[in-house]
Amino acid sequence: MAQYKIGWMPGDGVGKDVMEAARLVLDALKLDAEYPAADIGWEFWCREGNPLPERTLECLRQTDCALFGAITSKPVAEAAKELDPSLQDKGLTYFSPIVRLRQEFNLHTNMRPCKAYPGNPLNYKDGIDLVVFRENTEGLYAGVEFHPVPESIFKALSINPKMKRFGKHALEDLAMSTRIMSRAGCRSIVTQAFEFAKKFNRKSVTLVEKPNVLRETGGLMTRTAREVAKNYPDIPLWETNIDAQCMWLLKNPFDYDVLVAENMFGDIISDLAAGMVGGLGFASAANIGDKYAVFEPTHGSAPKYDGQYKVNPCAMLLTAKLMLDWLGETDSGRRLEAAVAAVVAERKVGTYDVGLNNTTLEVAEEVARKL
Ligand code: IPM
Ligand code: MG
Repeated sequence: MAQYKIGWMPGDGVGKDVMEAARLVLDALKLDAEYPAADIGWEFWCREGNPLPERTLECLRQTDCALFGAITSKPVAEAAKELDPSLQDKGLTYFSPIVRLRQEFNLHTNMRPCKAYPGNPLNYKDGIDLVVFRENTEGLYAGVEFHPVPESIFKALSINPKMKRFGKHALEDLAMSTRIMSRAGCRSIVTQAFEFAKKFNRKSVTLVEKPNVLRETGGLMTRTAREVAKNYPDIPLWETNIDAQCMWLLKNPFDYDVLVAENMFGDIISDLAAGMVGGLGFASAANIGDKYAVFEPTHGSAPKYDGQYKVNPCAMLLTAKLMLDWLGETDSGRRLEAAVAAVVAERKVGTYDVGLNNTTLEVAEEVARKL
């Protein structure tokens, strides 16, 4: 029996291409693993009305962790139109399978390193090395939403006088998405950020919030962060607002190091940080829980490039590195990152986004040679 069981979820579009690239490199590293395949994505929504079938959850529960390519997501109404005719009008609602996976397995921490590898022509500035810690199961992604707003909910919320203004609208003309945050969730994500900063000698932790407007949720996060920070007297905690932080990050990227944020703010700031180090072709991510983790590149399924082996596999390969680290295969992880960095620096083999014209698999092969 192999040492590791890794759930294998290519998903949709270029997810399949980049996962093939990952496999090539993991095999070159001789990782002692088996890779049970699990269904996820658009095809299963259209055919079965569920992009994350129960059998996939069952399969993943038998594995140590999972690697995930990409999926196609569409807004509710568009998704409903593409359902198999036999499933139409059954009241099925599309919900992102990756968001659901994060919640089902309580993968509370989303870690997203954004490092400018030397020689990457897409670097906004050389030397950028940021890590975003995004709370991954709560906040604006809690999934507690209403449309139309039920009468009982409207009434319950009316204990807050600010609700009165909305009384002039019909309930079906109101929609509501909630931002729900727990003290435990805030404490956990901030602690993860500080622990990482301590372990890797990072100079500061920056909380990205908006407590001047989102006074209750932002307030809870800010107070909790200050409490956690007391346990790390050598690492300063900076408090910033999401809007200003987007501007400052672009202006002075070297002032920042580890960033920590609620789910939606983390979603936003991590795309910005990715954009500064070469875009989604270089952005890796780990969804980490207490005992299980799912690793995914930040990019989507890019349907227009489906099956063309055109997209940059570096994000996926750096994601595989995060998986190796989490499994305790840190030596392989280090070798893989060094090999990716060497290929980027050499600029002989690369995909269209970095101005070269190799395929996804050619880049992976070159990385494998450098191992
Ligand atoms: C990400 C993505 C996802 C998210 C989408 C695909 C649901 O943008 O992982 O950042 O919003 O979390
Ligand atoms: Mg995102």
